[in-house]
Amino acid sequence: MSSNNSKLRSQEWFGGKDKMGFVHRSWFRNQGYPNDYFEGRPVIGICNTWSELTPCNGHLREFADVVKRGVLDAGGFPLEFPVSSLGETVMRPTTMLFRNLASMDVEENIRANPLDGIVLLTGCDKTTPSTVMGACSVDLPTIVVPGGPMLNGRFRGECLGSGSFNWMVKEKMLVEKYTDEDILEAEIGVARSAGHCMTMGTASTMACMVEALGLTLPGAAAIPAVDARKKVMAQLSGRRIVEMVKENLRLSAILTRQAFENAIVVNAAIGGSTNFILHLLAIAGRIGVPLDLEDFDTIGGKIPLLVNLKPSGKYLMEDFYYAGGLPVVIKELSSHLHNDAITANGRTIGENNKNPACYNHDVIATIDRPFQQDAGIAVLKGNLCENGAVIKPSAATKALMKHRGKAVVFETIEDYHARIDNEDLDIDENSVIVLKGAGPVGYPGMPEVGNVDLPEKLLRKGIRDMVRISDGRMSGTAAGTVVLHVSPESAIGGMLALVQNGDMIELDVENRKLHLDISDAEAARRRAAWTKPAPMATRGYVRFYIEHVQQANLGADLDLLQGGSGSEVTRNLH
Ligand code: FES
Repeated sequence: MSSNNSKLRSQEWFGGKDKMGFVHRSWFRNQGYPNDYFEGRPVIGICNTWSELTPCNGHLREFADVVKRGVLDAGGFPLEFPVSSLGETVMRPTTMLFRNLASMDVEENIRANPLDGIVLLTGCDKTTPSTVMGACSVDLPTIVVPGGPMLNGRFRGECLGSGSFNWMVKEKMLVEKYTDEDILEAEIGVARSAGHCMTMGTASTMACMVEALGLTLPGAAAIPAVDARKKVMAQLSGRRIVEMVKENLRLSAILTRQAFENAIVVNAAIGGSTNFILHLLAIAGRIGVPLDLEDFDTIGGKIPLLVNLKPSGKYLMEDFYYAGGLPVVIKELSSHLHNDAITANGRTIGENNKNPACYNHDVIATIDRPFQQDAGIAVLKGNLCENGAVIKPSAATKALMKHRGKAVVFETIEDYHARIDNEDLDIDENSVIVLKGAGPVGYPGMPEVGNVDLPEKLLRKGIRDMVRISDGRMSGTAAGTVVLHVSPESAIGGMLALVQNGDMIELDVENRKLHLDISDAEAARRRAAWTKPAPMATRGYVRFYIEHVQQANLGADLDLLQGGSGSEVTRNLH
């Protein structure tokens, strides 16, 4: 560890006595910085995913100013810069197509600029993994400031979860006869403050992931975006990053194998999103820690569910914060965690979460009396998913976790929409809905379509869940007996591509099995007749993505982005 400011990376730009030193300093002076700002203050890049096109991150512009206060308090030089922001509810065809692109933007911006330490300002689903992935490939001292969830949604005296209510709109209109006015009222009530989705969806899962990995100050994840304590956390993070630079506490020192194992354990206990798997695998790939799909089951599969939040439970993030938040969960899990894993504040995760009080055991259970046993993500294997598929038991229907049913196949999501509500579609509650063409290559970008709505005729019968299987993803706000991330995907000739209507499929979560009941000879016959679909793009980034994206079991990162290139830039600006 070094506290010698002459060794600061930024001094390679600002410390020069030559022409380039003049150039690097001079243009910055047009923003009115005094001379001492260039004389050895740690330069802190505030990497901001603020965008008016990303509603969940709409408050982060203001938050950057709060972080700057902290950096200045500690004697640093804060410089905010924008990076690609990914708005989950608006970007077409899916934000996942752009996660890796955004991570490249972050990586190259950090490396190319005179920065000593980084604060990542994040919120909406993909903005956390994309920034962390990019930062990992540079490996400077880095701290994450999660933007925080919205306040609980409110609608006619009830709490409403963002995201989770979306999946009920069809059912509400069909069965409960909601009018357009009813839906409008709910639409407004569910998003009544700044912040990201307040269910334990992907954004909240990501916030908890970075806290469990040790990349935030303790307790940061659950604080609502509009709570003044969120700003206190942001300012303290600004102070802390300056110290992290002085201590040379880099991401690679925090993101050890132990930290990843801790994150898997915590994710199981909070009933976190299945998207966690893809993002954690991708982050591990960038920082160079070996992690594979099976680890999520072997490390997290037997962990009990301790948090009663939608979509697995009843409450929302605001309630989670008032109950004590993630520190209580971490404390409860202490016998399953690597308590000596170092975190951003320089202390271990065990030291940080020694004695947090729980104020509501209906929201956060004790380890002895959990809401559910064995709640972690289950990794399935079988001829239908040779490289694996996943299911989230805490969000599934117990009775369907062992099920054998007849496949009803949709070749694409458009095919599904065109036919699912046909009255004469041959489907009943025992059928297994199979959706193809939703993988990283096939869609492209692996959209959140795995939890497709049930057919209207079955909803009217009162059916609320069926087994659904796809190579796509599922929103972290959704629930159901949904098998996801089937790998290899259908577009590259995985067995999923060969499933036909009427085939029998067997799901057995307890034995981690997903089996297509056809003979090897029949599979070979179908494979010989199968033709690879034409790529969905012939130019630009999307072609590049299709040619380089890895399968879901590897985290769906681009193959050439694996690992890092460090922070050194060998060639100068001349
Ligand atoms: Fe941004 Fe849910 S849409 S967090």
